[in-house]
Amino acid sequence: MKRVLKPRAAFIFFRLEHLKELLIVLDELDLSFINHLVWKYQFGLVTTRKYVTSHYHILFVGVDERKRKFFPYARYEKDEKLPEGGSAHYKDKEDVWTIPREYWTGDVKTPTKLPAEIIRKILAYSSEPGDIVLDPFLGSGQVAVVSKMEGRRFTGFEVVPDYFQFATKRLESGSYRLKAE
Ligand SMILES: C[S@@+](CC[C@H](N)C(=O)[O-])C[C@H]1O[C@@H](n2cnc3c(N)ncnc32)[C@H](O)[C@@H]1O
Repeated sequence: MKRVLKPRAAFIFFRLEHLKELLIVLDELDLSFINHLVWKYQFGLVTTRKYVTSHYHILFVGVDERKRKFFPYARYEKDEKLPEGGSAHYKDKEDVWTIPREYWTGDVKTPTKLPAEIIRKILAYSSEPGDIVLDPFLGSGQVAVVSKMEGRRFTGFEVVPDYFQFATKRLESGSYRLKAE
């Protein structure tokens, strides 16, 4: 990734148990740590002997800090207020993101996928229309599909042929969700 990425930014989604290895790799590759973001979601799995897992980790890292771009008012104007008061862009840029998972009842079930809103948010703050977005683990093609919707170009890899075909079908059909046959 370091070799192919432009000096913009990278986002790594990970499980906590991989944190140690990830931090070592970032250090070895001289990638700079910018933010640790927490994606808060609802899971609905009741636990009786431990706390309920309801968040996921995202590392925001930079390839070249001097050249990195960030678009702080990409989603809200500088003086825009929230209905309940307070700065809208400040709230949007806090490092805990509460975004529900997407359940596609009645449609083709997909391999694990990120909610479109997370990808939209990342694209808005860290890329411009026409940029190329790389997802090395495409799954259902969610990052590519949302990148296309947001006017970005995309590329990526997927090792499971069925998933790759599913992602390709979504991209070619122009439909976000595909009806189950
Ligand atoms: C968590 S899913 C991806 C979710 C997707 N990026 C999204 O935004 O919704 C991870 C995917 O990576 C694929 N994968 C795992 N190892 C891979 C590899 N070495 N090369 C390409 N794809 C791989 C898996 O088959 C799986 O579909």
